[in-house]
Amino acid sequence: MISSTDTRVFPLELERLYPVVVRGEGAWVEDSTGKRYLDAMSGGSMAATLGHGRRDIIEAARQQASRLSYVHNERLTNPQREQLAAELVEVAPPGMTRVRFVTGGAEANEMAIQIARAYHVERGDTKRWQVISPAQAYHGPTMATLGLTGRPGLQAPFGPYMTAHRHIPPSTWRFDPTGEAALKALDQVIEEIGPENVSAYFCEPISAAALPAYSPPEKFWRGLAERRDRHGFLICYDEVVTGVGRTGEWFAAEKLPLTPDIIGTAKGLGAGYAAIGAIVCTDHVYQAFARGSRRFTPGHTWDGAPLSCAVGLKVLDVVRSERLIERVRERGPRLRDELAAALDGVAMVHEVRGHGFLLGVEYVDPRDGKSFMPPELGVARRVDLTAMENGVIVYSTMPTRDGFAGDQTLFAPPFTTPDADLSEMVARFAKTIRIVAAQVDGELR
Ligand SMILES: Cc1ncc(COP(=O)(O)O)c(C=O)c1O
Repeated sequence: MISSTDTRVFPLELERLYPVVVRGEGAWVEDSTGKRYLDAMSGGSMAATLGHGRRDIIEAARQQASRLSYVHNERLTNPQREQLAAELVEVAPPGMTRVRFVTGGAEANEMAIQIARAYHVERGDTKRWQVISPAQAYHGPTMATLGLTGRPGLQAPFGPYMTAHRHIPPSTWRFDPTGEAALKALDQVIEEIGPENVSAYFCEPISAAALPAYSPPEKFWRGLAERRDRHGFLICYDEVVTGVGRTGEWFAAEKLPLTPDIIGTAKGLGAGYAAIGAIVCTDHVYQAFARGSRRFTPGHTWDGAPLSCAVGLKVLDVVRSERLIERVRERGPRLRDELAAALDGVAMVHEVRGHGFLLGVEYVDPRDGKSFMPPELGVARRVDLTAMENGVIVYSTMPTRDGFAGDQTLFAPPFTTPDADLSEMVARFAKTIRIVAAQVDGELR
């Protein structure tokens, strides 16, 4: 373990002890003391969707690096970039025809809102700039993407830099089980800022860490589609986590009753072997540029580089040839059931949600079965530390200051995890939760 006093790294949390992970194989990682952990978080961030140590992807990267690792996309292109764009369009929802590459999730989301804004300007609709999004979300740490969430804890101390986008409450079981309150809030915001100023509605189709495996009720999605038609804004999905298979579809958009105009995706495209993300958009978005200025020039140095695109191509090849979308779709519901059964009877577990290999466990105060857990108990932190002691990596989040979410855990293993490892992950996690639940019961008494 490394503490902030033993390192030159500027760590994310100065109080935390960090295991030094030195190797990985499949769904396992090993630290410098030889301790092995089951990786129920795909590398900690849900990026390592195909597991660790894949020789085939490493070989694809090696071959590409020896032929041509890098050229920039502003004046040059390369076959890997061209091919990956073509293959992504093939698996994207119907009507999506163009791809722009970036190097990660926040960049994908930020460029998605830039494309949305530029789309309106290209069409002469120059007033449209504001984005509306659900408050309880995470879209990245850059100033623009922080402005897309309404979470005070994430935005502090950067408030002075935040763009004044608008947010609506999430329609969870606690606040809005039908989705009607969220639609009302959306209407109110649209009216306040004026429909002619709205550029886009931006959201995760199925949430990751901010509300693990949650998606608003169908009524909300249908109502959102109807408002898009009425008011002329675009819908952007953050599929940074859900894209490329996580929920048992190529894109989670396929599970919902509306097709977005723009999708940002990242983690599963490089599967932890390359830093790559992409924005995919519908033809009507692209046509605004094709018929307009014929330019959209924002870009980064590594966008569409041959090395990262070669990795992306191999990742798509593995996902297809090993039928991993089908596996996640078929195995995910059973994994959810196994997790729920293993946690059965634990009073602080309110719900186990799941979409494919994106699962979430939500905790409540066991004394009434519905309030948030008192934040001073630090349940999320205890769950993660106890899990680590028990040799399994999960990711829990603390209650948010705006009161939209309490303690909860995300469970998102690699798609390739063998059944025996999935069972062992569930067993280690259930043991963890029972230990923490006993501590919590003792302290709440
Ligand atoms: C839903 C979601 N969107 C965006 C991001 C930001 O992606 P990146 O860290 O690659 O910038 C993340 C990262 O965890 C995420 O979970």
